[in-house]
Amino acid sequence: MKIISPSILCADFLHLEDICQMLNESNAQWFHLDVMDGMFVPNISFGMPVIKSIRQATEKTLDAHLMIEKPDRYINQFRDCGVDWLSFHIETTPHAHRTIQAIKDAGMKAGVALCPATPISTIEEILPDLDYVLLMSVNPGFGGQKFIPSTIDKIKRLSRVIEERDCPALIQVDGGVNISNAQLLYESGADCLVAGNAVFTSDDPILTIDRILGLR
Ligand code: DX5
Ligand code: ZN
Repeated sequence: MKIISPSILCADFLHLEDICQMLNESNAQWFHLDVMDGMFVPNISFGMPVIKSIRQATEKTLDAHLMIEKPDRYINQFRDCGVDWLSFHIETTPHAHRTIQAIKDAGMKAGVALCPATPISTIEEILPDLDYVLLMSVNPGFGGQKFIPSTIDKIKRLSRVIEERDCPALIQVDGGVNISNAQLLYESGADCLVAGNAVFTSDDPILTIDRILGLR
């Protein structure tokens, strides 16, 4: 499966409506929404009001990546904003199983995100419950960072475990994705690539999206 989820974090916030329009016309299937609290990660991004507005501008899948402490507090609010797929960081809670169930009970797809230093073994017990696993290929907090090469091996190992255990989870890869590494990432087992800077600093974002998807 080849999905691309352009990260709105790297877009020009003054022109969000135009950005949504462009993505609607593109082959991108999902919108990636990075929510940061200035605690779990050093940066603060955007929250519910912005997501609500984006929801009004697209019918495509909204994929929210929570980089916040105590993610349980806001699950229903993100659902009410129109989020379809919701991920939180395994490093933020000792009760991931409960959080996953709460996301599903709210009617969304549930994902868990792993920082580069967090081993796959931390999600061994909950893997069958997940709709997706987000592997960070940079340290979370900012767009425009350099891809960490050891992520390739991590994708392959996770992909093997998912296959061996016959789990439905998709693999999403986030950070430093570009035209040059996208095909290798998909071939290694990634189903969904998040791309921020690569898309939004491009002169032709629609073409860049197609190139990442391998369509052109
Ligand atoms: C980083 C975010 C990413 C980021 C990706 O914490 O989770 O989604 O916006 O941006 P690029 O593709 O520029 O690394
Ligand atoms: Zn992200």
